[in-house]
Amino acid sequence: MNGLIARWHRRLPVTGRTPIITLGEGNTPLVRADRVAKAAGLPPGSVFLKVEGANPTGSFKDRGMTLAISKAVEAGATGVLCASTGNTSASAAAYAARAGLRCVVFLPKGKVAAGKLSQAVMHGAEIVEVAGNFDQALVMANEAAKTKGFALVNSSNPFRIEGQKTAAFEILEQLGRAPDNHFIPVGNAGNITAYWKGYKESGAAPRMFGWQAAGAAPLVSGKPVLNPTTLATAIRIGSPVSWNSAIAARDESGGMIGKVTDAEILSAYRFLARSEGVFCEPSSAASVAGLLKLAKAGKAPSGVSVCVLTGNGLKDPGITARFAPKIRRVKAGGRMKL
Ligand code: F0G
Repeated sequence: MNGLIARWHRRLPVTGRTPIITLGEGNTPLVRADRVAKAAGLPPGSVFLKVEGANPTGSFKDRGMTLAISKAVEAGATGVLCASTGNTSASAAAYAARAGLRCVVFLPKGKVAAGKLSQAVMHGAEIVEVAGNFDQALVMANEAAKTKGFALVNSSNPFRIEGQKTAAFEILEQLGRAPDNHFIPVGNAGNITAYWKGYKESGAAPRMFGWQAAGAAPLVSGKPVLNPTTLATAIRIGSPVSWNSAIAARDESGGMIGKVTDAEILSAYRFLARSEGVFCEPSSAASVAGLLKLAKAGKAPSGVSVCVLTGNGLKDPGITARFAPKIRRVKAGGRMKL
């Protein structure tokens, strides 16, 4: 199977002896988004969506997980563990199942979307429900990671960042050039760190525009948020692990890290589904919400922008109820006037 380690092994910390655990991740679509461009007052062909929900478990986490799990197996681990707002646990559970490892996941109670939880369940992860938020769950996972034979597969694991940087390599190939601007949701800040690393290693330097949810925006306020709140549960994080490298990505690239409200996130989420045919999860839409927010203020950056859509819309079916149309209920067999 051709996953991203096979494709990019020369640029990844693997050798011929690394057992490769793959589900065929990576090589996700880069979709031209002229309706988003128009909404932002930009010319056709200037906005692209990197659809990471097309990865095997439905999020970008698979990029980091193929490498983190492969390296864990290489190092002789018998189990892996993580704290997660949902996607990391879904990905870890799937790759661990494939590798035959135990997988223990620490999840914030009541704040993991249904699709993600069902993945952890079906892939046989051992689930620890923490009566607290992600940041508190991560403290527990870090402690539990001292258990012999276990590897932590949160994004503090450098192999996660290495695997995820390949998305930048793909964008450069797919566009045939470097984008001028890169828009991305930011939670624990591993992914913005990974993209910036991937771009830098390729000699590219788009401006990095990171977006946090307004109720969980420590990188914007400059201090940790004790009780992060947002319906974008994937990025409901108050104390990002990769804080310094996210700020470095922002500053080295001449970009910014801003915040978008839940209303702005949901508006972009709906717009992408209805006008571009791309169904991402709410947190993912933060990247496009950020671009539209800048546009509204007359500050949309010129040139080519790539917006990363980090996870699949099917991950979080619960949130769609509020967009349901009026449903017509009819008897079977009659004629329907449209
Ligand atoms: N988008 C989605 C869909 C996510 O699941 C995450 C993070 C992010 C964006 C933010 O990425 O943390 O690298 O800045 N989800 C983690 C998890 C925290 O546990 O699944 P980041």
